[in-house]
Amino acid sequence: MQIHNLTDNIYALPALDWDRRLFDELIPLPDGTSYNAYVVQGSQATALIDAVDPTKQDELLAALGNLNLDIDYLVAHHAEQDHSGAIPAVLEKYPEAQVLSTPKGKPLLRDHLRLRDDQIAAVEDGHTLSLGDMPLQFLHAPWVHWPETMLTYLPERRILFTCDFFGSHLATSHLYAEDEARVYEAAKRYYAEIMMPFRHQIRKHLARLEDMDIDVIAPSHGPIHRNTSFIMDAYRDWTSDRVKNQVVLPYVSMHGSVRAMVDYFTDALLQRGITVQPFNLTVTDVGELAMALVDAATVVVGTPTVLGGPHPSAVYAAYLANALRPKTRFASIIGSYGWGGQTVERLTSLLGNLKVEVLEPVMAKGYPQGEDFAELDALADTILKKHENINNTQGGENEGI
Ligand code: FEO
Repeated sequence: MQIHNLTDNIYALPALDWDRRLFDELIPLPDGTSYNAYVVQGSQATALIDAVDPTKQDELLAALGNLNLDIDYLVAHHAEQDHSGAIPAVLEKYPEAQVLSTPKGKPLLRDHLRLRDDQIAAVEDGHTLSLGDMPLQFLHAPWVHWPETMLTYLPERRILFTCDFFGSHLATSHLYAEDEARVYEAAKRYYAEIMMPFRHQIRKHLARLEDMDIDVIAPSHGPIHRNTSFIMDAYRDWTSDRVKNQVVLPYVSMHGSVRAMVDYFTDALLQRGITVQPFNLTVTDVGELAMALVDAATVVVGTPTVLGGPHPSAVYAAYLANALRPKTRFASIIGSYGWGGQTVERLTSLLGNLKVEVLEPVMAKGYPQGEDFAELDALADTILKKHENINNTQGGENEGI
């Protein structure tokens, strides 16, 4: 672990996890990740902000040893173990350190890490901790990404420590977000997988930051942002109600019928000027699918009928989309069947969280033929019309997309 001097007496300690390929045993990490801890050394006391994943605790302890500072406070922004897992080891090395969390964080830290209550002090929203010349202000930020999350602001240096907020699963040699195109992709993937279900709460937290003087955003995953408008503008866009003229098309095909429908439908959408992103669910990276859902106006699931219902891969895609709660406005289903089934009903029932209008599905009996393709054309026409009439302003007139 490298020790980076962000500015006088402020240190970044990023634990780079180059090889990690799965998070929460669910989320693909094509670019690895990092767990960033920070140290703020005040004239009278020193705070460690976030610990790291427990797999990296020896690196953190070695770095803290090299800094040769006593740790008086351990700011636990978030109880999820990729930030808190090393806290017991840090406390073993610095037994006098006081853990600081939100009131909701205290029982979570106690239950997940088996800390004692007397080791943790709860801080209220807006509370300021004096470290001497480096006061730390705590901002509660529930649902970024658990209910107990908080951020820390260091007004003396205009640094905002944001934990998961504005983070990215990206292991890189660069401490700062220099390659913005690459960081944008990683941050959008991170937003899609972690933050999107809490879009409305995230938007409120963003609004709260608008009037603050912030020169540096220091998340606990991925590079640090000196160009704060780059990442804040991206979040404003992703969390807004605006959708784009895009169709996301996750599909699975067993014997080619659905594939033929997807190919035809993709061309039909493109001919109408609609961007389409098909995802073959047998090979797709669900992170890519989640990213596509951030902006798209419409999602259409393609599935054959298996044992009277949708293919399990299509069920998984629908379940995921429902859990991630994208701002999608329209949904539909295309697919095939042999002799019957309840594919449409079962898939539609999985989308209850989405505030979508369900457009007339297209189900072909066997391999699609003339009338099925005509129905796909009609669905593409409907989607075009719906997109043209979308109200993309907050309370304004329909402007289309
Ligand atoms: Fe990076 Fe929600 O933990």
